[in-house]
Amino acid sequence: MTCIVLKAVFPLLDGVDLASCMLVCKQWKDIAEDDYLWKCLCARRWPSLCKRPSPSTMKYYKLYGTFHKRQRRRDLPPPRLSFNDLDFYIDIWAEGQSIFSEVVSGPVLHAGIKSRPIGISDIVRCHLDGPEYRMMLPVEPRFSVPLGQTASVSVLVERKDFNKFACIINKSLFDYVDRTSFRAIAFDYLDFAPIHPFISGIRAWISLLFTDGENDRVADVFGIEMDFCDAASNETEVLWLLDMLDWK
Ligand SMILES: *[C@@H]1O[C@H](CO)[C@@H](O)[C@H](O)[C@H]1NC(C)=O
Ligand SMILES: *[C@@H]1O[C@H](CO)[C@@H](O)[C@H](O)[C@H]1NC(C)=O
Repeated sequence: MTCIVLKAVFPLLDGVDLASCMLVCKQWKDIAEDDYLWKCLCARRWPSLCKRPSPSTMKYYKLYGTFHKRQRRRDLPPPRLSFNDLDFYIDIWAEGQSIFSEVVSGPVLHAGIKSRPIGISDIVRCHLDGPEYRMMLPVEPRFSVPLGQTASVSVLVERKDFNKFACIINKSLFDYVDRTSFRAIAFDYLDFAPIHPFISGIRAWISLLFTDGENDRVADVFGIEMDFCDAASNETEVLWLLDMLDWK
């Protein structure tokens, strides 16, 4: 096909077809690459671009290609932090008395609860075997919490690569007891570093997991679970989120 014909036809095409033409052969590519064609396509979509005060170095071809459709969510780069760098300091009180106080290393919390304890309900079993990513810790020896009492929890995290601490949960109450899923739940809002000023409202959730005992007034706690399901649903996302905390 002659050059003249191509030059007459190409301006009638839409961006997708024009881009396909560029793949046909060198001659087609050279003609279709003319940024004037792409400027026209951009102007159809964003007419104010024709009023651009100063010519820029960015080609209209690139501009069109970048924004003509919604970008697929990009993969997260590897986190700058690993579970090996982290220690979690977990303290739990019932009526002001300490009932659990441990330093839990990142890898332990990440590994979760491997063996399924006896006496857990099917709902808890499904929960433990579910596909969602959660950090869990088996509690050994187990402890009991009278369900009528006020129980609270604090969690600090230390990153050993920087030698800094961040607060994850600051004395929150386990004020929701879900008897159908055998959990007592507490949460707190995360504090992010000032370089992330527009992020807020993301919670840390912590649950006491208990067995399906005879006595429904006392929770026999076999595990502790923590997640950030408002924002992070896998290991990579959790590590990115923790990296963004207000480390001191
Ligand atoms: C976690 O999710 C992000 C995006 O949501 C994805 O890019 C990443 O590959 C996932 N990582 C793992 C370990 O599944
Ligand atoms: C934790 O809570 C106490 C009491 O409510 C408050 O005074 C303190 O500033 C909080 N600390 C952080 C790190 O949020």
